[in-house]
Amino acid sequence: MKKIILVTGGAGHVGSHVIEILLKDPNNHVISLDNYFNGFERNHIKGADYRRGDTKDIDKLIPENPDVVFHLGEYARIAPSFDDVDKVYDLNISGTFAVVEFCRKRSVGKLVYAGSSTKFAIEGDGRHQNPYSFSKATNVDLINDYGRWYGLPYAICYFYNAFGPRENGEGKYATLIAKLEKQYLSGQPFTIHKPGTQKRNFTYVKDLARGIILVGEKGNGDGYSLNNEKAYSVLDIANAFGGPIEMVDSYSGRKDSGDLPDKARGELGWEETVDILD
Ligand SMILES: NC(=O)c1ccc[n+]([C@@H]2O[C@H](COP(=O)([O-])OP(=O)(O)OC[C@H]3O[C@@H](n4cnc5c(N)ncnc54)[C@H](O)[C@@H]3O)[C@@H](O)[C@H]2O)c1
Repeated sequence: MKKIILVTGGAGHVGSHVIEILLKDPNNHVISLDNYFNGFERNHIKGADYRRGDTKDIDKLIPENPDVVFHLGEYARIAPSFDDVDKVYDLNISGTFAVVEFCRKRSVGKLVYAGSSTKFAIEGDGRHQNPYSFSKATNVDLINDYGRWYGLPYAICYFYNAFGPRENGEGKYATLIAKLEKQYLSGQPFTIHKPGTQKRNFTYVKDLARGIILVGEKGNGDGYSLNNEKAYSVLDIANAFGGPIEMVDSYSGRKDSGDLPDKARGELGWEETVDILD
């Protein structure tokens, strides 16, 4: 019998890498549930079983009883979340409630959640910075409480600025590194939000995906940060590309994160292998 593994958001950036690694084990049957809100068929990995739809309809769309659920399928951007608060609520709050209920009712062996490190900013008060961070931190609370109330087996990871292959550089939901790459290749100046000294722990997406799977195998409870230990400012990165820089207005809603929990390194021995400047 193959192990049934569900990855929500499997057509997205990080989810596609999780699927790619999981499929290396022939004993895994990997299902993706994605509504293609910010996912792409070009990210599909041969051998995975793709279902199209919202996580809020998970019960109908997934008749199987998965052994593990990697829940990554959510609205995943900070700056535009102020304008998209209705989408954030629908995709993240309603969607994740359905996923958590699904895991409880189907007795899923483990729910692995993709949390956001933004909640650790402002001495742990970072959840109130923007609608996205609010939804992510609320879902962490919900999953921790399902663990307390119903004994739901779960593990919570925290990510921090993933970069690497299959990053989307187009449109409203483009990521920072993919945007800089695009500007570099087309000879345009880099648009950097002021002051530019804001630091990020850019984490290579394949390291991140490996970490998520490790947490799925061995993690238990909250506190698995999967971030590069080294932080670089946005200006450091633009200067590493090399080229003219145009400073633009800052956007509200994001302060540097504070101390992150370190169970992934301490307990599981996870480490990054690629630094962004390399
Ligand atoms: N990339 C990062 O740096 C980062 C940092 C912190 C947390 N995260 C979290 O990791 C997860 C993956 O992020 P990503 O960068 O790969 O984002 P992404 O936008 O590339 O991938 C998310 C995928 O989920 C799908 N999706 C969104 N809402 C859905 C829903 N309700 N039902 C079904 N599918 C849905 C999208 O279409 C997309 O394919 C997200 O939960 C995000 O909040 C990412």
